[in-house]
Amino acid sequence: MDQSALKELAARAAVDAIKDRYDKEIALGIGTGSTAECFIKMLPEIKDRIEVTVASSERSAALLAELDIPVSDLNASGPLDVYVDGADEINGALEMIKGGGAALTREKIIAGASEHFICIADQSKRVSELGAFPLPVEVIPIARSHVARLLADLGGTPVWREGVITDNGNVVLDVHGLRLNEPGPVEALINQMVGVVTNGIFAHRPADDAFLAGSAGVQRMTREIRS
Ligand code: 5RP
Repeated sequence: MDQSALKELAARAAVDAIKDRYDKEIALGIGTGSTAECFIKMLPEIKDRIEVTVASSERSAALLAELDIPVSDLNASGPLDVYVDGADEINGALEMIKGGGAALTREKIIAGASEHFICIADQSKRVSELGAFPLPVEVIPIARSHVARLLADLGGTPVWREGVITDNGNVVLDVHGLRLNEPGPVEALINQMVGVVTNGIFAHRPADDAFLAGSAGVQRMTREIRS
């Protein structure tokens, strides 16, 4: 099965989970990327359960509008019931690296405003330790070189994603070679750097469920809630 068929399978599992979980109209957060787009294209079939959507990128918002799905913004929508998005890497604790599509800041905001977070991906995104995928960091443009030096001091090799401007008007540094066996503290440390808007580690707001599609089917992983 090719990767696009696996993405479709993962997206289908999320649609089914939403049908099972909610019998009311929901406020739905929508992610960005090729797997999220598979999910968006399936939304017309559950349109009657959607009160409103909030998208994590202009591209996803445009696709939703094309399909005649109601799109709002987070200030108007209030808290969201569920957020569905892909990932660049996901570990066993459902912590992720995201931002390959440069939408990490809006993704993190919408994930934080959602009661439930479903990650959809093909099995190639499952890792035992995060960090092989270069960590995206969204940076205010004038701080680019300054933040790059701070990230190098942390032991990473930042590479400017030239030509890419985020929906928020900022730039992205992709940091290679960071050790992320404890992603939470690194997420907090990088977010403390002046000039950083946010970074693509999702450890403080991991997914609650993940549907990971492989040739043997879809594996569901559910996060253990620690008290
Ligand atoms: C965009 C993201 C995406 O979720 C991530 O890059 C995965 O994309 P895809 O589904 O195309 O593999 O974080 O900023």
